[in-house]
Amino acid sequence: MINRNRHLLRLSDWNEERILETVAIAMRLKKEIKAGQPSDRFHGQTIGMFFEKPSLRTITTFQVGIHQLGGMPVLLAPDSIGLGKRESVPDVARCLSRWVNALVVRCFKQELVEQLAEYGSIPVINALTDDFHPCQALSFAQMMTEQYGSLKGKTVAFIGDGNNVANSLLTLASKVGMNFTLACPKGFEQPKFVVDQALDGLKKHGTQYRVFNNPEDAVKDADILYSDVWVSMGQEGEKDTKQSHFLPFQINDALLAKAPAHCKVTHCLPAHRGEEITDSVMDGDRNLSFEEAENRLHAQKAILWQVMTPTSDFGK
Ligand code: CP
Ligand code: NVA
Repeated sequence: MINRNRHLLRLSDWNEERILETVAIAMRLKKEIKAGQPSDRFHGQTIGMFFEKPSLRTITTFQVGIHQLGGMPVLLAPDSIGLGKRESVPDVARCLSRWVNALVVRCFKQELVEQLAEYGSIPVINALTDDFHPCQALSFAQMMTEQYGSLKGKTVAFIGDGNNVANSLLTLASKVGMNFTLACPKGFEQPKFVVDQALDGLKKHGTQYRVFNNPEDAVKDADILYSDVWVSMGQEGEKDTKQSHFLPFQINDALLAKAPAHCKVTHCLPAHRGEEITDSVMDGDRNLSFEEAENRLHAQKAILWQVMTPTSDFGK
């Protein structure tokens, strides 16, 4: 049986208290490193990093963050390991558990991170799968807390594909009491199991999940617009079909003008400028994408802190 608090496999495994505590840890670690007071919490610890898909932000910020906390990242080479081909996933998990203290994994199938957690004996962090991107959602939560003061009651309007990032943001919203709006072309909604999982939390908080097939209705009452690529990693073959459906779902000045004046914009990045978002919005003063990207560093240190501390004692 997997102890889901010891891992971050998907955000639905963590409760509101743990999520908010992680954001608080992230904010404190950010303040401390900026004040020149680094922690050596992970002194003598090594953390394996297995990335099957490309990355700039996640692979860099995990390595920098581990270094900032006194630990050592070890980059694992997927082609050389041949997970599931050269060697079974359970055996790889068993071996890695004897050498490193935690594992950060970016891969296609969600089942792979689940399996590594099941058969290994070290914390596993989901650094993006086809289904979820919890590290992104927690970095967003930190950015929103910093920029808006709190998460409660805020409305995020995700304009685009019902994808892994949208799934983790919906899960976050259901946990912390935000409203989540999706605007997507028909047929590109989020999977039912993700929505079903979120409904209880949304009901408990009295917050809303809405889906529109036009972006104008979705932005009307939004506090923040969220953008992501139309074609996620691994879906490159669907590029031509997808792009024609998504053209009306671009975040541009005209769409932003229909949102409330205080509404800002963020993007998980990488941005495909001229597709899902325009240069003018990316370079405009309502864009918080780079604040969110900065927080990848601190939110992920906080995630590691949480999963590598059996009972988190941070700040106590
Ligand atoms: N947003 C994000 O995860 O970026 P990378 O794919 O560059 O890691
Ligand atoms: N949905 C995107 C997110 C990239 C960070 C993808 O999976 O490619």
